[in-house]
Amino acid sequence: MRILVLASQKGGSGKTTIAASLAVAAAQSGERIVVVDLDPQGSLAEWGQLREVKDIVFRSVPPGKLDEWITATRKVEKVDLVIIDTAGTFGKEVDTALRHADLCLVPVRPSAFDLRAAGPTVERIRVLDRDFGFVLNGTNPVTPARTADAVAALEVGGAVAPPIADRTDFRDAAATGLGVTEITPNGKAASEIKALWSWVAERMKGTPK
Ligand SMILES: Nc1ncnc2c1ncn2[C@@H]1O[C@H](COP(=O)(O)OP(=O)(O)OP(=O)(O)O)[C@@H](O)[C@H]1O
Ligand SMILES: [Mg+2]
Repeated sequence: MRILVLASQKGGSGKTTIAASLAVAAAQSGERIVVVDLDPQGSLAEWGQLREVKDIVFRSVPPGKLDEWITATRKVEKVDLVIIDTAGTFGKEVDTALRHADLCLVPVRPSAFDLRAAGPTVERIRVLDRDFGFVLNGTNPVTPARTADAVAALEVGGAVAPPIADRTDFRDAAATGLGVTEITPNGKAASEIKALWSWVAERMKGTPK
């Protein structure tokens, strides 16, 4: 079982949006997925309640119980991947998730403010000695040079996953309990999220399912 944690102390960077569509893409590729929403806002859990297809298991874990829950879940053979969405404010709970992460994904918006704001998140992940990758989220497809500049800036700080553009499919998916690969299976958002999932799967390949 692997654990993927979406983390960023910057609110609105795209943690929940990416967690949702990535969970669907991973499930479509045959992974048995459990999603945990650690954010008290509960957006990902709400998205899960909208889902009609029951291909993803949603678990709510009470505060302070994550350690225990992960230990117990590791013994369940039927789980390949746990995806944990976290709150934008770091604390004990997020730290626990990060400590267990086989990979942390850090979404970053392509603006100077956001690029700089990623620093403290990465510092924490480094202190905890976990693997991580940035995901540039909300890029503008008509300005590829700007995207390339932002990717280059992020590469100074760590590995960079394939970027995700700002696309209405992500907003529609959030509103309907779907993933972008279900909303428009052959769309651009779908191909971006599939590329991200391939990158994540490859990055975690050292950890057995
Ligand atoms: N790639 C995208 N294309 C279009 N809209 C997006 C994209 N990514 C995120 N959004 C929108 O941006 C807003 C913030 O995204 P999201 O809630 O996923 O961020 P977050 O990091 O989970 O925020 P928080 O820290 O508050 O939990 C949402 O309204 C979401 O629909
Ligand atoms: Mg969120």
